[in-house]
Amino acid sequence: MKLLVKGGTLPEYGRADMLVEDGVISRIEGNIECEGAQVVDAEGLYVMPGMVDLHCHLRDPGQEYKEDIVSGTRAAAAGGFTSVCCMANTTPVNDNAVVTSFIINKAKAEGSGVHVYPVGAVSKGLKGENMAEIGDMAKAGAVAISDDGKPVMNALLMRLAMEYGSAFGMTVFDHCEDSNLVNKGVMNEGYNSTLLGLRGTTRAAEEVQIARDIVLSETLNLPIHICHVSTKGGVELIRQAKKRGVKITAETAPHYLVGTDDLCASYDANTKVNPPMRLASDQEALIAGLCDGTIDAIATDHAPHHRDEKEVEYNMALSGISGFETAFALCVETLVHGHHMTMEDFVKVACTNPARIIKKNCGQLKPGMDADFILADPNEEWCIDARKFLSKGKNTPFHGRLVHGRVKETYVGGARIYKD
Ligand code: DOR
Ligand code: ZN
Ligand code: ZN
Repeated sequence: MKLLVKGGTLPEYGRADMLVEDGVISRIEGNIECEGAQVVDAEGLYVMPGMVDLHCHLRDPGQEYKEDIVSGTRAAAAGGFTSVCCMANTTPVNDNAVVTSFIINKAKAEGSGVHVYPVGAVSKGLKGENMAEIGDMAKAGAVAISDDGKPVMNALLMRLAMEYGSAFGMTVFDHCEDSNLVNKGVMNEGYNSTLLGLRGTTRAAEEVQIARDIVLSETLNLPIHICHVSTKGGVELIRQAKKRGVKITAETAPHYLVGTDDLCASYDANTKVNPPMRLASDQEALIAGLCDGTIDAIATDHAPHHRDEKEVEYNMALSGISGFETAFALCVETLVHGHHMTMEDFVKVACTNPARIIKKNCGQLKPGMDADFILADPNEEWCIDARKFLSKGKNTPFHGRLVHGRVKETYVGGARIYKD
């Protein structure tokens, strides 16, 4: 099977043709002619690696009313993702090889074609007490371990997880929030929370945990990955740690680049997310962190919820944003059209770096790489309409927003799995 992608613009190569043979990229050159190949017309489009999402919630098994592996992977494909890592806070929790295998098998049998890489739990039942079956999950195909949704408050447990995880080639992805400091907060603590009469969460809750993780990583000389960094202070802690050679990587999410706690003034629970959206000064620091390599990756933290869990008063609503289908546009709009980075730089944080963190042969367009790629129009104008999401989760604070940048087609292993 040969596929010839003609006339697109590629990162590093510029305008070029790309030949795919048996699911792998075989050639990228200015002009390729190939008898018998199926031709894909990419004229006027940007051809880039499929995005690799280090952090999402597919809700399967057990919470299929929010999302399942079929709807979730279809939404991921529509969003331009070709690989997604799904967190362990399912029902039952993915804390053993049976659940890990179930997710992988269901994705292969019924998913859209997007690669699904489960993240196993750190602790049994996400209870923060005893370690989960880390080695078994690694053998079954888990790519990392995390209690995401909850922090690992016990530093000894965290140490053990880092040691066991690394013995099996897996990094701990930590949801950094000190639950005592969170103290039932529902939005960022500051001027807006006071004005709105909503209970705030101090940024220190996040930064205290990041600092602890840095100390553990540095002392033990083991890798750590920080999930959804949302504060300026968090970025600075990671920047300084990287300068000292600490084996730390980090992600942030599109909603932290685009939204601030001003959005909460609507009392719309679609703005409720954990950690919460912060201030413009935090957005600037996160963007600077992405530009200078402090923040390695953009991850969606796609967290679909049922409308009944969102259409309630702010304090009662569950946290999370349905993120797959807005990520590309929100990032391109902010980072590229906002003149902070080029499309090539964006490819590094959306594709290349996350693929490196989970050690997969994707995230770059070059001969020998898996042909996981997308065709996108970075300039196409469209209006975000949550009702049109393929995800079951319609919970986005960005409904109605005019954006630029649209995913047109998605390919995995050279096979088209989505077309706009
Ligand atoms: O907003 C969030 N939603 N943050 C998390 O850490 C968990 C996630 C979820 O699972 O809904
Ligand atoms: Zn989290
Ligand atoms: Zn999450």
